[in-house]
Amino acid sequence: MEQQLKQLRDEALEAIAAAENLGEVEDIRLSFLGKKGRVTGVLRQMGSLPPEQRPLMGKLANEVRDALEGALAARKEVLEHAEQQRRMAAETLDVTLPGRKPARGTIHPLLRVRREIEEIFLGLGYTIEEGPEIETDYYNFVALNLPKHHPARDMQDTFYIDEDAVLRTHTSPVQARTMEKSQGAVPLKMICPGRVYRKDDDVTHSPMFFQVEGLVIDKDITLGDLKGTLLLFAQRMFGENQQIRLRPSFFPFTEPSVEVDILCTSCQGKGCRMCSNTGWLEILGAGMVHPRVLEMSGYDPTKVSGFAFGMGIDRVAMLKYGIKDIRYLYQNDVRVLEQFQGGIG
Ligand code: PHE
Repeated sequence: MEQQLKQLRDEALEAIAAAENLGEVEDIRLSFLGKKGRVTGVLRQMGSLPPEQRPLMGKLANEVRDALEGALAARKEVLEHAEQQRRMAAETLDVTLPGRKPARGTIHPLLRVRREIEEIFLGLGYTIEEGPEIETDYYNFVALNLPKHHPARDMQDTFYIDEDAVLRTHTSPVQARTMEKSQGAVPLKMICPGRVYRKDDDVTHSPMFFQVEGLVIDKDITLGDLKGTLLLFAQRMFGENQQIRLRPSFFPFTEPSVEVDILCTSCQGKGCRMCSNTGWLEILGAGMVHPRVLEMSGYDPTKVSGFAFGMGIDRVAMLKYGIKDIRYLYQNDVRVLEQFQGGIG
């Protein structure tokens, strides 16, 4: 038995020294010192020894167990230390590495232009008004001097919801609503930006787009006021050397009506493909508010007059930034949107 114990001890010590990880150390402990371990097994046979040999064997057995436990603990410590060293080396943080920047969003070009327009007119004392996108036939057409079955309704490719409700085809109904609300009070100076809808879809038209309408009513408002206001707007928006040109036009709700051009943003008036060699680009429709429109909304056309203008925010953005296809504004391709950074927040 003595022989057996010493052999087990040597075998175990050798195995412990060769153990390469904590799992192996534990396996060795179980196979020698566990309940069913080999050293334990030998100790069980102690009872069969002659009584005089028992104390000696008992002592040896204890020594073997202590030696193995000591060796196991020492090996465990060595391996734990090595593991800690390895992890420390592997998990070292390089505090000098540059940080990762979180992706930064940008303001959509349409919103930028809309805010810029709002800033310009707020600075001139205008208020900002809003109205519903699903509009009654009355405000979208009738209150703007476009009675039912009037041929000029064809100018706007309308999405009808039913007989009396449409997706508004322009922001002009907000001018009728605001006039009505103001109950004849002057001066009235407002702009109303918002979504509008038309059955139209090509590189320069989207079935949903943005307009901003402007309206001023006061005593003695003239076409000269309209022209001065729009010139100032064009210069703030497109650069201080901008110029505007008024061409006679027709809108049922204004008389006289004009279409307003700015110098071509691509060739500055010299003539190029973009402006079909005219040097000018159309940017908005405008005119003096029709007396019937004033009257319908509670103003006395013999005492006050007003001008109105309406423009596509999409078109302004396209001209300002040289965007050739309106769909770029609605596809939300980050490669496009990323190009509009900095400037106004
Ligand atoms: N509402 C017109 C349109 O959408 C634009 C406009 C507004 C013209 C105000 C004149 C005055 O075409």
